[in-house]
Amino acid sequence: MTDVLQAPGLDRVAIELVVNGVPRRLVVEPRETLAEVLRDRLDLRGAKVSCDAQVCGACTVLVDALPVSGCTFLAVDADGRRVGTVEGLATDGELSPLQQAFIDQAAFQCGFCTPGMLMAATALLEEQPHPSRDDVVHGLEGNICRCTGYEPIIAAVLQAAGGDMPSSRREEVPAVTSAEAGGDPLDPGTEPVESQQ
Ligand code: FES
Ligand code: FES
Repeated sequence: MTDVLQAPGLDRVAIELVVNGVPRRLVVEPRETLAEVLRDRLDLRGAKVSCDAQVCGACTVLVDALPVSGCTFLAVDADGRRVGTVEGLATDGELSPLQQAFIDQAAFQCGFCTPGMLMAATALLEEQPHPSRDDVVHGLEGNICRCTGYEPIIAAVLQAAGGDMPSSRREEVPAVTSAEAGGDPLDPGTEPVESQQ
């Protein structure tokens, strides 16, 4: 349960989270976002903050296994819930199959979008272990890659889902067409949103 602690001029709130399997108790300001708490209090800097407006998906983390935008999700709303970040995907130093697939498919360029992509794809594969290509495109539509490397990202998710698609066959993945995209952020032709950093 959330406790409101009185401090001079400011209410602060005690929250309890389980972050990547580790119970954490924190006192936060009600205005603090989950991304701020993860990055600045817990030193989990995998989730990136770029647009800061729930547009790009760079800050995607999981709350009770569902993807949320950490830049707009208030930390107090995560009280009593399980939070998953990219730092929790590997187990005992072993990359998750999805992380390995991103490497196999060279599914990143600058890598700024990658943690968010990984978390969104993790949630997608949890819900749909064997997604179609369209399912993957739909599942990642809230995540923008400013380097526009969408095809390797899609290939990586399909590989992790058991598609066993080696990198040498990446070019065989059908390209996203503008008709398919229709303003979809996964359309390689879509203009990237300007960073507001
Ligand atoms: S930084 Fe949160 S959606 Fe862009
Ligand atoms: S790899 Fe650069 S933004 Fe996606």
